[in-house]
Amino acid sequence: MVVPSSLLSSDPAVARVVEAEERRLRENLVLIASENYASAAVLAATGSVLTNKYAEGYPERRYYAGTEHVDAVESLAIDRAKELFGAEHANVQPHSGSQANMAAYFALLKPGDRVLGMSLDHGGHLTHGSPVNFSGKLFEFGHYGVDPETEQLDYDAVAQAAEEFKPKLIVCGYTAYPREIDFARFREIADSVDAYLLADVAHIAGLVVGDAHPSPVQHADIVTTTTHKTLRGPRGAMALTRSDHARKYNSAVFPNMQGGPMMHSIAAKAVAFNEAVQPEFKQYATQIVQNAQALSSALAAGGLRIVSGGTDNHLMLVDMRPMGLTGKAAEAAMHAAGIVVNKNTIPGDPESPMVTSGIRIGTPAVTSRKMSVSDMETVAGFIVDAVKSANDEVALARIKTAVSSFATDFHVPGLDDA
Ligand SMILES: Cc1ncc(COP(=O)(O)O)c(C=O)c1O
Repeated sequence: MVVPSSLLSSDPAVARVVEAEERRLRENLVLIASENYASAAVLAATGSVLTNKYAEGYPERRYYAGTEHVDAVESLAIDRAKELFGAEHANVQPHSGSQANMAAYFALLKPGDRVLGMSLDHGGHLTHGSPVNFSGKLFEFGHYGVDPETEQLDYDAVAQAAEEFKPKLIVCGYTAYPREIDFARFREIADSVDAYLLADVAHIAGLVVGDAHPSPVQHADIVTTTTHKTLRGPRGAMALTRSDHARKYNSAVFPNMQGGPMMHSIAAKAVAFNEAVQPEFKQYATQIVQNAQALSSALAAGGLRIVSGGTDNHLMLVDMRPMGLTGKAAEAAMHAAGIVVNKNTIPGDPESPMVTSGIRIGTPAVTSRKMSVSDMETVAGFIVDAVKSANDEVALARIKTAVSSFATDFHVPGLDDA
Protein backbone atom coordinates (compact mmCIF):
# COMPACT_ATOMS: atom_id res chain seq x y z
CA MET A 1 0.00 0.00 0.00
CA VAL A 2 1.18 3.54 -0.48
CA VAL A 3 0.69 5.15 2.94
CA PRO A 4 4.20 6.55 3.53
CA SER A 5 6.10 5.25 6.55
CA SER A 6 6.56 8.85 7.76
CA LEU A 7 2.77 9.19 8.11
CA LEU A 8 2.41 5.75 9.67
CA SER A 9 4.96 6.53 12.36
CA SER A 10 4.08 10.16 13.03
CA ASP A 11 0.29 10.00 12.87
CA PRO A 12 -1.16 6.48 12.93
CA ALA A 13 -4.70 7.83 13.34
CA VAL A 14 -4.60 9.62 9.99
CA ALA A 15 -2.60 6.80 8.38
CA ARG A 16 -5.35 4.34 9.36
CA VAL A 17 -7.94 6.52 7.64
CA VAL A 18 -5.86 6.66 4.46
CA GLU A 19 -5.40 2.89 4.51
CA ALA A 20 -9.12 2.34 5.01
CA GLU A 21 -9.87 4.65 2.08
CA GLU A 22 -7.41 2.74 -0.10
CA ARG A 23 -9.22 -0.47 0.78
CA ARG A 24 -12.59 1.11 -0.01
CA LEU A 25 -11.32 2.26 -3.40
CA ARG A 26 -10.05 -1.22 -4.18
CA GLU A 27 -12.99 -3.31 -2.97
CA ASN A 28 -15.92 -1.18 -4.17
CA LEU A 29 -17.25 -0.26 -7.57
CA VAL A 30 -16.82 3.52 -7.72
CA LEU A 31 -19.54 4.68 -10.10
CA ILE A 32 -19.79 8.30 -8.98
CA ALA A 33 -19.71 10.22 -12.25
CA SER A 34 -17.49 13.01 -10.87
CA GLU A 35 -14.83 10.78 -9.31
CA ASN A 36 -11.74 9.09 -10.70
CA TYR A 37 -8.41 7.51 -9.71
CA ALA A 38 -5.49 9.94 -10.12
CA SER A 39 -2.22 8.35 -11.25
CA ALA A 40 0.76 7.77 -8.96
CA ALA A 41 2.55 10.67 -10.69
CA VAL A 42 -0.36 13.05 -10.03
CA LEU A 43 -0.47 11.92 -6.39
CA ALA A 44 3.31 12.37 -6.08
CA ALA A 45 3.18 15.95 -7.35
CA THR A 46 0.21 16.68 -5.06
CA GLY A 47 2.18 15.40 -2.08
CA SER A 48 5.38 17.28 -2.97
CA VAL A 49 7.22 20.12 -1.22
CA LEU A 50 5.59 22.59 -3.62
CA THR A 51 2.84 22.75 -1.00
CA ASN A 52 5.23 24.93 1.05
CA LYS A 53 5.50 27.87 -1.33
CA TYR A 54 3.60 31.14 -1.32
CA ALA A 55 3.36 32.62 -4.80
CA GLU A 56 0.61 35.23 -4.96
CA GLY A 57 0.47 36.63 -8.46
CA TYR A 58 1.36 34.95 -11.74
CA PRO A 59 4.66 33.64 -13.21
CA GLU A 60 7.29 36.42 -13.37
CA ARG A 61 4.88 38.77 -11.52
CA ARG A 62 4.80 37.54 -7.91
CA TYR A 63 4.49 39.21 -4.55
CA TYR A 64 7.10 36.88 -3.00
CA ALA A 65 10.73 35.95 -3.60
CA GLY A 66 11.94 32.42 -4.19
CA THR A 67 9.36 31.62 -6.84
CA GLU A 68 11.73 30.62 -9.64
CA HIS A 69 10.77 26.92 -9.49
CA VAL A 70 7.05 27.37 -8.99
CA ASP A 71 7.10 29.91 -11.84
CA ALA A 72 8.54 27.19 -14.04
CA VAL A 73 5.89 24.66 -13.07
CA GLU A 74 2.97 27.07 -13.43
CA SER A 75 4.22 28.17 -16.87
CA LEU A 76 4.49 24.51 -17.85
CA ALA A 77 0.93 23.85 -16.66
CA ILE A 78 -0.36 26.88 -18.60
CA ASP A 79 1.44 25.88 -21.81
CA ARG A 80 0.25 22.29 -21.53
CA ALA A 81 -3.33 23.36 -20.83
CA LYS A 82 -3.34 25.64 -23.88
CA GLU A 83 -1.94 22.90 -26.08
CA LEU A 84 -4.28 20.23 -24.71
CA PHE A 85 -7.44 22.25 -25.29
CA GLY A 86 -6.24 24.39 -28.23
CA ALA A 87 -6.95 27.53 -26.22
CA GLU A 88 -5.58 31.06 -26.43
CA HIS A 89 -5.21 31.55 -22.67
CA ALA A 90 -5.26 29.33 -19.59
CA ASN A 91 -5.47 30.09 -15.89
CA VAL A 92 -4.56 27.07 -13.76
CA GLN A 93 -5.00 28.67 -10.32
CA PRO A 94 -8.70 28.15 -9.42
CA HIS A 95 -8.85 25.95 -6.33
CA SER A 96 -12.12 24.33 -7.40
CA GLY A 97 -14.74 24.26 -10.13
CA SER A 98 -16.96 26.55 -8.10
CA GLN A 99 -14.19 29.12 -7.87
CA ALA A 100 -13.40 28.84 -11.59
CA ASN A 101 -17.06 29.71 -12.23
CA MET A 102 -17.06 32.50 -9.67
CA ALA A 103 -14.08 34.08 -11.41
CA ALA A 104 -15.81 33.73 -14.80
CA TYR A 105 -18.82 35.64 -13.48
CA PHE A 106 -16.64 38.35 -11.94
CA ALA A 107 -14.62 38.65 -15.16
CA LEU A 108 -17.66 39.19 -17.39
CA LEU A 109 -20.44 40.55 -15.17
CA LYS A 110 -21.37 43.04 -12.48
CA PRO A 111 -23.42 41.95 -9.46
CA GLY A 112 -27.10 42.01 -10.39
CA ASP A 113 -26.52 41.18 -14.08
CA ARG A 114 -28.74 38.58 -15.69
CA VAL A 115 -27.49 35.06 -16.39
CA LEU A 116 -29.31 32.16 -18.02
CA GLY A 117 -28.34 28.63 -16.91
CA MET A 118 -29.75 25.12 -16.65
CA SER A 119 -31.88 24.59 -13.55
CA LEU A 120 -30.38 22.42 -10.85
CA ASP A 121 -33.05 19.70 -10.96
CA HIS A 122 -32.49 19.27 -14.72
CA GLY A 123 -28.72 18.83 -14.39
CA GLY A 124 -27.21 22.27 -13.74
CA HIS A 125 -24.67 22.91 -10.96
CA LEU A 126 -25.19 24.89 -7.75
CA THR A 127 -22.96 27.62 -9.22
CA HIS A 128 -25.37 27.98 -12.14
CA GLY A 129 -27.73 30.15 -10.12
CA SER A 130 -29.00 28.12 -7.18
CA PRO A 131 -30.54 30.45 -4.59
CA VAL A 132 -28.44 28.83 -1.84
CA ASN A 133 -25.21 29.52 -3.76
CA PHE A 134 -23.27 32.79 -4.23
CA SER A 135 -24.25 32.72 -7.92
CA GLY A 136 -27.98 32.94 -7.21
CA LYS A 137 -27.38 35.54 -4.51
CA LEU A 138 -25.13 37.90 -6.49
CA PHE A 139 -26.64 37.63 -9.98
CA GLU A 140 -30.16 37.51 -11.36
CA PHE A 141 -30.48 34.02 -12.82
CA GLY A 142 -33.10 32.70 -15.19
CA HIS A 143 -33.21 28.98 -15.97
CA TYR A 144 -33.85 26.65 -18.87
CA GLY A 145 -34.47 22.93 -18.57
CA VAL A 146 -34.78 19.81 -20.69
CA ASP A 147 -37.81 18.95 -22.80
CA PRO A 148 -40.31 17.00 -20.65
CA GLU A 149 -40.86 14.37 -23.36
CA THR A 150 -37.34 13.69 -24.64
CA GLU A 151 -35.59 14.69 -21.39
CA GLN A 152 -32.95 16.28 -23.64
CA LEU A 153 -32.05 19.90 -24.38
CA ASP A 154 -34.46 21.65 -26.73
CA TYR A 155 -32.28 24.34 -28.31
CA ASP A 156 -35.27 26.25 -29.72
CA ALA A 157 -36.69 26.50 -26.21
CA VAL A 158 -33.32 27.73 -24.89
CA ALA A 159 -33.24 30.34 -27.68
CA GLN A 160 -36.72 31.48 -26.72
CA ALA A 161 -35.80 31.66 -23.02
CA ALA A 162 -32.78 33.79 -23.97
CA GLU A 163 -34.92 36.06 -26.13
CA GLU A 164 -37.37 36.61 -23.28
CA PHE A 165 -34.85 36.90 -20.41
CA LYS A 166 -32.16 38.91 -22.24
CA PRO A 167 -29.20 37.59 -20.19
CA LYS A 168 -25.74 39.10 -20.32
CA LEU A 169 -24.26 35.59 -20.01
CA ILE A 170 -25.50 32.10 -20.90
CA VAL A 171 -24.09 29.07 -19.07
CA CYS A 172 -23.94 25.63 -20.67
CA GLY A 173 -22.19 22.47 -19.44
CA TYR A 174 -23.70 20.44 -16.61
CA THR A 175 -23.45 18.17 -13.60
CA ALA A 176 -26.01 15.56 -14.54
CA TYR A 177 -26.82 15.68 -18.25
CA PRO A 178 -26.17 12.47 -20.19
CA ARG A 179 -26.35 13.85 -23.73
CA GLU A 180 -23.98 15.61 -26.11
CA ILE A 181 -23.97 19.41 -25.90
CA ASP A 182 -24.12 21.45 -29.12
CA PHE A 183 -21.77 24.30 -28.19
CA ALA A 184 -21.99 25.87 -31.67
CA ARG A 185 -25.77 26.18 -31.24
CA PHE A 186 -25.27 27.75 -27.80
CA ARG A 187 -22.91 30.31 -29.40
CA GLU A 188 -25.59 31.18 -31.97
CA ILE A 189 -28.15 31.60 -29.19
CA ALA A 190 -25.76 33.78 -27.15
CA ASP A 191 -24.98 35.91 -30.22
CA SER A 192 -28.69 36.33 -30.99
CA VAL A 193 -29.14 38.19 -27.67
CA ASP A 194 -25.64 39.70 -27.51
CA ALA A 195 -24.68 37.58 -24.48
CA TYR A 196 -21.40 36.03 -23.41
CA LEU A 197 -21.14 32.24 -23.37
CA LEU A 198 -19.62 30.27 -20.48
CA ALA A 199 -19.07 26.54 -21.05
CA ASP A 200 -18.58 24.70 -17.76
CA VAL A 201 -17.15 21.35 -18.86
CA ALA A 202 -16.21 20.23 -15.32
CA HIS A 203 -17.66 16.79 -16.04
CA ILE A 204 -16.74 16.19 -19.66
CA ALA A 205 -13.31 17.84 -20.00
CA GLY A 206 -11.58 14.46 -20.28
CA LEU A 207 -13.96 13.45 -23.05
CA VAL A 208 -13.33 16.76 -24.83
CA VAL A 209 -9.55 16.39 -24.84
CA GLY A 210 -9.88 12.69 -25.69
CA ASP A 211 -12.03 13.52 -28.75
CA ALA A 212 -15.05 11.74 -27.29
CA HIS A 213 -17.14 14.94 -27.08
CA PRO A 214 -17.07 18.12 -29.22
CA SER A 215 -14.99 20.95 -27.77
CA PRO A 216 -16.49 24.25 -26.60
CA VAL A 217 -13.18 26.13 -26.86
CA GLN A 218 -13.77 27.82 -30.21
CA HIS A 219 -17.35 28.77 -29.25
CA ALA A 220 -17.28 29.98 -25.65
CA ASP A 221 -15.89 33.21 -24.22
CA ILE A 222 -14.70 31.29 -21.17
CA VAL A 223 -14.45 27.53 -20.57
CA THR A 224 -14.14 26.35 -16.98
CA THR A 225 -13.42 22.85 -15.76
CA THR A 226 -12.44 20.89 -12.72
CA THR A 227 -9.27 18.85 -13.14
CA HIS A 228 -10.25 15.85 -11.00
CA LYS A 229 -13.16 14.28 -12.87
CA THR A 230 -12.83 12.76 -16.35
CA LEU A 231 -9.56 14.70 -16.73
CA ARG A 232 -8.12 12.47 -13.96
CA GLY A 233 -5.88 15.10 -12.39
CA PRO A 234 -5.65 16.51 -8.87
CA ARG A 235 -8.59 18.11 -7.09
CA GLY A 236 -8.76 21.62 -8.54
CA ALA A 237 -9.85 23.56 -11.59
CA MET A 238 -8.80 25.77 -14.46
CA ALA A 239 -10.19 28.11 -17.06
CA LEU A 240 -9.51 28.64 -20.73
CA THR A 241 -10.39 31.98 -22.19
CA ARG A 242 -10.16 33.91 -25.40
CA SER A 243 -7.14 36.21 -25.26
CA ASP A 244 -9.32 39.31 -25.01
CA HIS A 245 -10.69 37.99 -21.68
CA ALA A 246 -7.29 36.87 -20.32
CA ARG A 247 -6.45 39.88 -18.13
CA LYS A 248 -10.00 40.17 -16.78
CA TYR A 249 -10.11 36.48 -15.90
CA ASN A 250 -6.68 36.49 -14.26
CA SER A 251 -7.51 39.42 -12.04
CA ALA A 252 -10.91 37.92 -11.23
CA VAL A 253 -9.00 34.95 -9.73
CA PHE A 254 -6.18 36.92 -8.08
CA PRO A 255 -6.40 39.37 -6.37
CA ASN A 256 -10.21 39.38 -6.54
CA MET A 257 -11.11 35.92 -5.25
CA GLN A 258 -8.11 33.85 -4.14
CA GLY A 259 -4.83 34.42 -2.36
CA GLY A 260 -1.80 32.20 -2.84
CA PRO A 261 -2.16 29.53 -5.51
CA MET A 262 -1.76 25.88 -4.48
CA MET A 263 1.50 25.19 -6.26
CA HIS A 264 1.52 21.46 -5.44
CA SER A 265 -1.87 21.17 -7.10
CA ILE A 266 -0.76 23.25 -10.10
CA ALA A 267 2.24 20.93 -10.54
CA ALA A 268 -0.10 17.95 -10.41
CA LYS A 269 -2.35 19.62 -13.00
CA ALA A 270 0.71 19.91 -15.27
CA VAL A 271 1.33 16.17 -14.80
CA ALA A 272 -2.29 15.35 -15.60
CA PHE A 273 -2.28 17.54 -18.74
CA ASN A 274 0.78 15.66 -19.97
CA GLU A 275 -0.99 12.34 -19.32
CA ALA A 276 -4.10 13.56 -21.14
CA VAL A 277 -2.21 14.53 -24.28
CA GLN A 278 -0.92 10.95 -24.73
CA PRO A 279 -2.60 8.71 -27.32
CA GLU A 280 -3.72 6.27 -24.57
CA PHE A 281 -5.90 8.98 -23.13
CA LYS A 282 -7.98 9.10 -26.31
CA GLN A 283 -8.57 5.35 -25.95
CA TYR A 284 -9.50 5.94 -22.31
CA ALA A 285 -12.04 8.66 -23.21
CA THR A 286 -13.61 6.52 -25.94
CA GLN A 287 -13.78 3.56 -23.56
CA ILE A 288 -15.53 5.65 -20.89
CA VAL A 289 -18.35 6.42 -23.33
CA GLN A 290 -18.53 2.85 -24.67
CA ASN A 291 -18.72 1.55 -21.11
CA ALA A 292 -21.43 4.06 -20.19
CA GLN A 293 -23.50 3.06 -23.21
CA ALA A 294 -23.03 -0.65 -22.48
CA LEU A 295 -23.95 -0.16 -18.83
CA SER A 296 -27.00 1.93 -19.71
CA SER A 297 -28.25 -0.71 -22.20
CA ALA A 298 -27.67 -3.54 -19.73
CA LEU A 299 -29.51 -1.67 -16.97
CA ALA A 300 -32.42 -0.98 -19.32
CA ALA A 301 -32.47 -4.68 -20.26
CA GLY A 302 -32.58 -5.41 -16.51
CA GLY A 303 -35.77 -3.36 -16.19
CA LEU A 304 -34.45 0.07 -15.09
CA ARG A 305 -35.66 3.30 -16.70
CA ILE A 306 -32.79 5.36 -18.09
CA VAL A 307 -33.60 9.09 -18.25
CA SER A 308 -33.58 10.32 -21.88
CA GLY A 309 -33.28 6.69 -23.04
CA GLY A 310 -29.49 6.42 -22.91
CA THR A 311 -26.24 8.35 -22.81
CA ASP A 312 -23.72 10.01 -25.13
CA ASN A 313 -21.13 10.66 -22.45
CA HIS A 314 -19.75 9.22 -19.22
CA LEU A 315 -22.93 9.19 -17.14
CA MET A 316 -26.52 8.09 -17.01
CA LEU A 317 -29.45 8.98 -14.80
CA VAL A 318 -31.73 6.20 -13.62
CA ASP A 319 -35.33 6.83 -12.58
CA MET A 320 -35.88 4.63 -9.51
CA ARG A 321 -39.64 5.22 -9.23
CA PRO A 322 -40.62 2.19 -11.34
CA MET A 323 -38.68 0.05 -8.84
CA GLY A 324 -40.64 1.61 -5.96
CA LEU A 325 -37.50 3.29 -4.56
CA THR A 326 -36.36 6.86 -3.99
CA GLY A 327 -32.88 7.85 -5.08
CA LYS A 328 -31.87 7.95 -1.43
CA ALA A 329 -33.05 4.38 -0.80
CA ALA A 330 -31.40 3.12 -4.00
CA GLU A 331 -28.11 4.82 -3.11
CA ALA A 332 -28.18 3.21 0.35
CA ALA A 333 -29.01 -0.26 -1.00
CA MET A 334 -26.26 -0.08 -3.60
CA HIS A 335 -23.79 1.21 -1.02
CA ALA A 336 -24.58 -1.77 1.21
CA ALA A 337 -23.70 -3.93 -1.80
CA GLY A 338 -20.33 -2.19 -2.41
CA ILE A 339 -21.58 -0.13 -5.36
CA VAL A 340 -20.98 3.59 -4.84
CA VAL A 341 -23.29 6.01 -6.68
CA ASN A 342 -25.11 9.19 -5.75
CA LYS A 343 -28.78 10.00 -5.51
CA ASN A 344 -29.70 12.65 -8.03
CA THR A 345 -32.74 14.67 -9.01
CA ILE A 346 -34.19 13.78 -12.38
CA PRO A 347 -36.15 16.16 -14.64
CA GLY A 348 -39.51 17.00 -13.06
CA ASP A 349 -38.49 15.31 -9.80
CA PRO A 350 -41.21 15.58 -7.13
CA GLU A 351 -38.73 14.69 -4.35
CA SER A 352 -36.36 17.07 -2.52
CA PRO A 353 -32.63 17.10 -3.41
CA MET A 354 -31.91 15.16 -0.19
CA VAL A 355 -34.26 12.35 -1.27
CA THR A 356 -34.62 12.50 -5.10
CA SER A 357 -36.17 9.99 -7.48
CA GLY A 358 -33.00 9.06 -9.33
CA ILE A 359 -29.42 7.96 -9.16
CA ARG A 360 -26.50 9.12 -11.27
CA ILE A 361 -24.06 6.49 -12.47
CA GLY A 362 -20.75 7.21 -14.21
CA THR A 363 -18.00 5.11 -15.75
CA PRO A 364 -14.79 7.25 -15.55
CA ALA A 365 -13.39 5.53 -12.44
CA VAL A 366 -14.15 1.92 -13.40
CA THR A 367 -12.74 2.63 -16.87
CA SER A 368 -9.52 3.83 -15.21
CA ARG A 369 -9.41 0.35 -13.65
CA LYS A 370 -9.45 -1.01 -17.21
CA MET A 371 -12.96 -2.43 -17.07
CA SER A 372 -14.40 -2.99 -20.50
CA VAL A 373 -17.79 -3.31 -22.19
CA SER A 374 -18.15 -6.97 -21.19
CA ASP A 375 -17.44 -6.08 -17.55
CA MET A 376 -20.32 -3.61 -17.69
CA GLU A 377 -22.71 -6.58 -18.07
CA THR A 378 -21.42 -7.89 -14.75
CA VAL A 379 -21.63 -4.45 -13.12
CA ALA A 380 -25.22 -4.01 -14.38
CA GLY A 381 -26.09 -7.42 -12.91
CA PHE A 382 -24.81 -6.31 -9.49
CA ILE A 383 -26.78 -3.06 -9.70
CA VAL A 384 -30.04 -4.70 -10.73
CA ASP A 385 -29.65 -7.35 -8.00
CA ALA A 386 -28.95 -4.67 -5.39
CA VAL A 387 -31.96 -2.49 -6.22
CA LYS A 388 -34.23 -5.54 -6.37
CA SER A 389 -32.89 -6.62 -2.95
CA ALA A 390 -33.09 -3.15 -1.40
CA ASN A 391 -34.94 -4.42 1.68
CA ASP A 392 -32.96 -7.61 2.11
CA GLU A 393 -29.81 -7.07 4.18
CA VAL A 394 -28.64 -10.65 3.76
CA ALA A 395 -28.88 -10.48 -0.03
CA LEU A 396 -27.07 -7.09 -0.08
CA ALA A 397 -24.24 -8.54 2.03
CA ARG A 398 -23.97 -11.50 -0.40
CA ILE A 399 -23.78 -9.09 -3.37
CA LYS A 400 -21.14 -7.04 -1.55
CA THR A 401 -18.93 -10.12 -1.22
CA ALA A 402 -19.32 -10.85 -4.95
CA VAL A 403 -18.65 -7.19 -5.86
CA SER A 404 -15.49 -7.15 -3.76
CA SER A 405 -14.16 -10.33 -5.30
CA PHE A 406 -14.91 -8.95 -8.81
CA ALA A 407 -13.46 -5.48 -8.13
CA THR A 408 -10.22 -6.58 -6.49
CA ASP A 409 -9.17 -8.32 -9.70
CA PHE A 410 -8.81 -4.92 -11.37
CA HIS A 411 -5.77 -2.66 -11.26
CA VAL A 412 -6.14 0.50 -9.15
CA PRO A 413 -4.25 3.49 -10.62
CA GLY A 414 -2.31 5.41 -8.01
CA LEU A 415 -2.23 2.42 -5.65
CA ASP A 416 -1.03 -0.56 -7.66
CA ASP A 417 1.56 1.40 -9.60
CA ALA A 418 2.78 3.65 -6.77
C1 LIG B 1 -20.69 21.31 -13.89
C2 LIG B 1 -19.93 21.55 -12.62
N1 LIG B 1 -19.42 22.77 -12.39
C3 LIG B 1 -18.73 23.06 -11.27
C4 LIG B 1 -18.54 22.09 -10.31
C5 LIG B 1 -17.85 22.49 -9.03
O1 LIG B 1 -16.67 21.88 -8.80
P1 LIG B 1 -16.04 21.84 -7.31
O2 LIG B 1 -16.77 20.78 -6.58
O3 LIG B 1 -14.59 21.55 -7.56
O4 LIG B 1 -16.25 23.21 -6.72
C6 LIG B 1 -19.03 20.81 -10.50
C7 LIG B 1 -18.82 19.77 -9.47
O5 LIG B 1 -19.44 18.80 -9.36
C8 LIG B 1 -19.77 20.54 -11.69
O6 LIG B 1 -20.31 19.34 -11.90
